[in-house]
Amino acid sequence: EEIEKGGYDHFMLKEIYEQPRAILDTYRGRLLADQGLIRMAGIDEHLEKFLNANRIIIVACGTSWHAGLVAEYIFEDLARIPVEVEYASEFRYRNPVITDKDVLIAISQSGETADTLAAIKMAKEKGAFVFGVCNVVGSSIARETHAGAYTHAGPEIGVASTKAFTTQITVLTLMALKLAKEKGVFSQSKFHEFLTELETIPAKVEKALESNALIEVIANVYKDSTNCLYLGRGYNFPVALEGALKLKEISYIHAEGYPAAEMKHGPIALIDEQMPVFVIATKKGHYEKVVSNIQEIKSRKGKIIAIVTEGDTQVRELADHVVEVPETLESLTPLLTTIPLQLLSYHIAVMRGCNVDQPRNLAKSVTVE
Ligand code: G6P
Repeated sequence: EEIEKGGYDHFMLKEIYEQPRAILDTYRGRLLADQGLIRMAGIDEHLEKFLNANRIIIVACGTSWHAGLVAEYIFEDLARIPVEVEYASEFRYRNPVITDKDVLIAISQSGETADTLAAIKMAKEKGAFVFGVCNVVGSSIARETHAGAYTHAGPEIGVASTKAFTTQITVLTLMALKLAKEKGVFSQSKFHEFLTELETIPAKVEKALESNALIEVIANVYKDSTNCLYLGRGYNFPVALEGALKLKEISYIHAEGYPAAEMKHGPIALIDEQMPVFVIATKKGHYEKVVSNIQEIKSRKGKIIAIVTEGDTQVRELADHVVEVPETLESLTPLLTTIPLQLLSYHIAVMRGCNVDQPRNLAKSVTVE
């Protein structure tokens, strides 16, 4: 096992650090920037299904569901296709309206999650076209779907999902970009801009990982907290949910993710000098609005830890701590902003003496409902 950890103390840390490589492996052979195209067999062979779809329904559980939420923003914003994102366990039991004009995308790292598998079977019976985004090759979900795309993240051992999340987002981004191009929503030059930017992401993730030592310092300050709040807007709202989930899963600290603007409808009542608030405040995407949310937290004496774009000065003046990530297109920011939040949860869990790779009561793959 020590050999498998490749010199890292835990699988989770190894998998966090594998992300530049995993993301590259995910788009390798698919993203052909020099030819100005994206090649994905699972979509190429069923293009009409996607182009004629009334809507896309995404089903998943846990972290994969958060990747689905990011995908909702990506598909709607870039490809202009309506999307619904559902917890598989709710979807399958609520007698949903599904037609043969719907495309269902099931996202699952393991490809074995019982609720997701059941949702797929139901959607197939109702005539939907079902596409799988899985990591484990030959898994039940990969076999049960009409078509799909693997994430190629490599084995993920840590129960808390890390590289599976960013590679799922990578696959879903490729899909959305391809469909945007095929639908004529994107010009060739806009498409090209996205392709070339996507190619810079592995290096930018690498850069984001360089904040590790700073994040360790921050983790040490907040490791004894009993509650934490995570806020983000737009593309980074799901990242806030995922940040909170990571902390809950491995450090057993209660954490809540919220859309920053929704804070005033409840969570703001919790804010006092004991409450760390992690805010994703990157330059693109409602930046000024997030800054005013930060001011609201500050005036209530909450502790502010902000994830900002490199070179940011405005948030730095307000926040107790800032962690920088490189600049990128708004729709690609989740691939970067997620990284410091993963590292933060990891360090807090280690400092609290928790079993990082196998947290209590959790399983890597949930094959029972
Ligand atoms: C479990 C795991 C999570 C995972 C979720 C969905 O809860 O602990 O890390 O996100 O299942 O798993 P899947 O394999 O379907 O992505």
